[in-house]
Amino acid sequence: MPTPSSQAFCASSIIGTGSYMPEKVLTNDDLSKIVDTSDEWITTRTGIRERRIAAEDQATSDMAAEAARRALADAGISAEEVNLIVVATVTPDMFFPSTACFVQKKIGATNAVCFDISAACSGFLYALQVARHFINTGNRSTALVIGAEKLSSLINWQDRNTCVLFGDGAGAVVIRRAEEETDAPGRVLSTVMGSDGNLADLLKVPGGGSACPITAENALSRPNTIHMEGRETFKHAVTRMCQASEQALEMAGLKKEDITLIIPHQANLRIIQAIADRLGLPHDKAFINLDKYGNTSAATIPVALDEANRAGRLKRGDILLLVAFGGGFTWASSVVRW
Ligand SMILES: CC(C)(COP(=O)(O)OP(=O)(O)OC[C@H]1O[C@@H](n2cnc3c(N)ncnc32)[C@H](O)[C@@H]1OP(=O)(O)O)[C@@H](O)C(=O)NCCC(=O)NCCS
Repeated sequence: MPTPSSQAFCASSIIGTGSYMPEKVLTNDDLSKIVDTSDEWITTRTGIRERRIAAEDQATSDMAAEAARRALADAGISAEEVNLIVVATVTPDMFFPSTACFVQKKIGATNAVCFDISAACSGFLYALQVARHFINTGNRSTALVIGAEKLSSLINWQDRNTCVLFGDGAGAVVIRRAEEETDAPGRVLSTVMGSDGNLADLLKVPGGGSACPITAENALSRPNTIHMEGRETFKHAVTRMCQASEQALEMAGLKKEDITLIIPHQANLRIIQAIADRLGLPHDKAFINLDKYGNTSAATIPVALDEANRAGRLKRGDILLLVAFGGGFTWASSVVRW
């Protein structure tokens, strides 16, 4: 059963989507020149063929701002109309100010309250739920919810266990209160979230924070890069994403057969296929773009949603299941009626 903290709310609608992916492409063959790996290994184990890498002088907020501009254009509203910006990221421009404040400045959203959320790969759905709370209580009317990452800044390019998995990019949605109109398009019908800090050690960046500042002594062991127990993470990801999906559907009063399209976190094709199998749905019900981008953490779902939207794959009334899993561990799922 869904937990009390995941109760259903009404009347927040996605009215625009946008994304930005950096130009530079890093292929599996490129990686095989840096570490002992191969295109065949990476493709078979993960489904990833290439990923995008941000320019050195490109910060997370630069990508987030461009995704936000595109989402605003899609929604047909100005930056001044936005009164809340929530950025989900584990690769903020700096510890503070928040990346959301930099986005505000870059797009000119002068009327917005701005802050970041840290929930790793579940960050976008966490941010969506936080923004819904602000909107559904009447506190704010129009929010930009952004997932943006420059994961290349956290990668140890000597670690083949992790460097082949991740990439950079940003995605954004505009959400707005849907007033009395209960069948408004893009309506978020339900969101469930969960966390288990007991498993924090399985996927983390141990250094660079207050627990382990980077010093001249520890810098060479690269504690400020991604450390992951891949097999364990894989198992928990499948279990939690299935549970969250079922809970979000139940909360929305829907069944698995009602799903038109799954927009899953893009970490590993085998994880996504295992989820589809457990839900009893064909693999082609899941939107896939990890072959092009790898795992961009908080950005995967809004980027996939935007690509599905722009490709004309989303029709009015479609039921979308959004589902994510990430470090923490954290997980979340949302059902959206397009
Ligand atoms: C990382 C992952 C792809 C590894 O796949 P796997 O099938 O579990 O592979 P294993 O970790 O068991 O490693 C198998 C072998 O491949 C090797 N290997 C690991 N990375 C490799 C690479 N890039 N190229 C070639 N070989 C590699 C390992 O060293 C191991 O070798 P060994 O058997 O000699 O020890 C997989 O565990 C995974 O996707 N986990 C979840 C990751 C994830 O989604 N993280 C983010 C969650 S938000």
